Amino acid sequence: MADKIKVRICVGTSCFVMGSAQIQSLEFNAPDDIADKIEIVEERCMNLCKDIEHKYNRGPFVFVNNELIEQASYEKVVAKIREEIQKNN
Ligand code: FES
Repeated sequence: MADKIKVRICVGTSCFVMGSAQIQSLEFNAPDDIADKIEIVEERCMNLCKDIEHKYNRGPFVFVNNELIEQASYEKVVAKIREEIQKNN
């Protein structure tokens, strides 16, 4: 079986208040087609929010495998996961 797609959600304060809580629901409420293909990891502040020049106000941050999603939302993360699944097929 293919490796699971790693979804790293920043749950540091800044990302949390910007909406990462909603993305965390992927853990128990992912769409059927992706639910068994992902591994969710919650991380403390990834320090991206401290990059004032490039990333300020660009949270919440989520990595899907090695790809960074800025201003992540549940929908954006699900779309990226589906893209990764396609790639692996
Ligand atoms: S709180 Fe998410 S990068 Fe800092």
